Amino acid sequence: MVGFAQDFAAKELSGRHVLLGVSGGIAAYKAAALARELVKGGATVQVVLTPGATQFVGAATFAGLTGRPAHTGIFDEAHAIHHVRLAREADIAVFAPATANLIAKFAAGLADDLVSSTFTCLTCPVVVAPAMHTEMWSHTATQDNIATLARRGVLVVGPDEGELAGGDVGPGRLVDPATIVAAMAAALRPSRPLAGQRVVVTAGGTREPIDPVRYIGNRSSGKMGYALAAECSRRGARVELVSGPTWLPEPAGVSTHSVETALQMRDAVLELAVDADVVIKAAAVADFRPTVYHRQKIRKEHLELGSVELERNPDILAELGADRRRRQSEGAIPGPAPLLVGFAAETDLEEERGRDKLHRKGMDLIVVNRVDMADAGFNVDTNRALLLGADGLRAEVGLTTKAELAGVVCDQIEALLVQRQQS
Ligand code: C5P
Repeated sequence: MVGFAQDFAAKELSGRHVLLGVSGGIAAYKAAALARELVKGGATVQVVLTPGATQFVGAATFAGLTGRPAHTGIFDEAHAIHHVRLAREADIAVFAPATANLIAKFAAGLADDLVSSTFTCLTCPVVVAPAMHTEMWSHTATQDNIATLARRGVLVVGPDEGELAGGDVGPGRLVDPATIVAAMAAALRPSRPLAGQRVVVTAGGTREPIDPVRYIGNRSSGKMGYALAAECSRRGARVELVSGPTWLPEPAGVSTHSVETALQMRDAVLELAVDADVVIKAAAVADFRPTVYHRQKIRKEHLELGSVELERNPDILAELGADRRRRQSEGAIPGPAPLLVGFAAETDLEEERGRDKLHRKGMDLIVVNRVDMADAGFNVDTNRALLLGADGLRAEVGLTTKAELAGVVCDQIEALLVQRQQS
């Protein structure tokens, strides 16, 4: 079970009328957790079920969780034109899990049960969270139907890649409830909170020179940071990208500052952070640098094995965190410090270490991501992550593209910005 008791995205839905449509996949049981979190956040949740969904979770479970009857039959209250009323009442509708069949019905405009009939009457924002076996998800018909829905303005979240029913592994798993809630909150906001915000993003790895030829570096490609810079810019933020050496094209509308060493990155970030609203530190900063830089190339016959002496680089993020604590204790002078989002490149998604790092460095949000897998980490276009927030947020993001992960991270940042504006 996902615990995100203090997720501000859930609180943003407080007082909203949510229509939750559940269709017949094994992930239907997770819709109960979603319903519970929405209710806990203060939303009114009206559940509608396909007949298939009731094979997995009964209407009584949802009625118990939401305090309202969960409807299945289109003729339950025929006199009241049930589906029209349910659609009119909704401020937002979410369909989770959405099976291939339900998605096909939505795309085709079929209305042969309560869920699909209600969908055809909706005028509010709609979020669809698909879940199905990989083969069904990959089928051209499903992909075409999803593209049709997205083109019509439906917000599609997921699916994740991971373990599926029957022991299979692949894309098709319902995304984490925290991710669905964040997408819903984002869909409901009248304006995008990142619009006009000053965002500093760091990306790539640093290089610590030994001599004019050699350096100590790491395998970071910069792809995650560039995806974040592009997504923030797409959402209307004014983005300053501080980048280590990469081969990536500059994202549109972003102002890029090229640096090479950790010390250069520190200077650039600290200067830009002074009037930033958000700092996202996706760069893999070298922890150590050679104590001495040799202006001439060291001849290999003079380079003894193990003779390059190292010293520790400053931790830029920890410095920003400490500066923020100081500013807060001084009454937010000279202005509110930026939101701090850090990354942790790990060879596992160890939660305790992530939380420790989050608190130690004074971050608001940490994205713990895998760097040791063929499909996650350095120099690939996909990633897996665990998002942990200082507010208690916990959201697992299964295998997904770095562009999509950037969207999930930006949704959470926007939820934090809204929360900060309200406090
Ligand atoms: O402790 P660790 O290196 O795993 O922390 C990773 C996070 O800290 C990343 O967000 C990275 O950009 C930041 N960091 C930093 N300065 C360093 C080392 C890491 O800002 N010297």
